[in-house]
Amino acid sequence: MALHDDRKEYLKKSLDDQGLHDDPMVQFGLWLQEYRETGAEDSTAFAISTVSSNGDPDSRIVLLKEVRDEQLVFFTNYNSKKGRDLNKNPRAHALFFWSNLERQVRILGSVVRIPRDESERYFASRPIKSQWGAAASQQSEPISNRAAMDDQLRLTQEAYPTQVPCPPDWGGFALSVDRIEFWQGRDSRMHDRIRFNREPLGEWTTERLQP
Ligand SMILES: Cc1cc2nc3c(=O)[nH]c(=O)nc-3n(C[C@H](O)[C@H](O)[C@H](O)COP(=O)(O)O)c2cc1C
Repeated sequence: MALHDDRKEYLKKSLDDQGLHDDPMVQFGLWLQEYRETGAEDSTAFAISTVSSNGDPDSRIVLLKEVRDEQLVFFTNYNSKKGRDLNKNPRAHALFFWSNLERQVRILGSVVRIPRDESERYFASRPIKSQWGAAASQQSEPISNRAAMDDQLRLTQEAYPTQVPCPPDWGGFALSVDRIEFWQGRDSRMHDRIRFNREPLGEWTTERLQP
């Protein structure tokens, strides 16, 4: 079947003007919970987009590990490509696509590193295989071949058989939400879009956008 024949109608749900919680972070939590309850795999995955110093955008999937104080927390290597982009330009965009609920959430904001002790605590709670992998990889750096990676893993396993110290360049970023848009697919492509904008004094304003 040609790609352009792949069509569907979006009929599952709607987004009334009064149907959303006044606090978009509460609303985000409700939608995330609903999505997780569908049993979808990798239900906390989202695309995080950064912009490099020469202005090129870049996106990749990461896992959401916490939502707190209007911030989304994810973990990565601070020297990775995304880490280097964010060190230069802390503005980032997060995109969630919850296909089986016909929903999309778009979030714009700035990131900061979370406190080191929190990253260390979280790192220590990860399964040992994840600890080894994080410590054995200089994320985003080229390497000659798979065997060289396997060697790095083996050396890490030998050095730290049961518990790995949190690598200095590994930790959490917290993305503060400045703008968040909830998208609900609707019939005839007349989708619902409600955007919340954070104003300078911290209050939220909303607007409906055309699909
Ligand atoms: C389902 C899924 C979950 C992922 N979770 C993470 C994550 O939480 N942190 C992370 O650094 N990379 C994660 N990755 C890998 C990233 O997508 C990416 O390959 C890696 O972070 C390097 O990106 P960069 O070179 O742009 O920095 C995940 C990939 C997938 C497909």
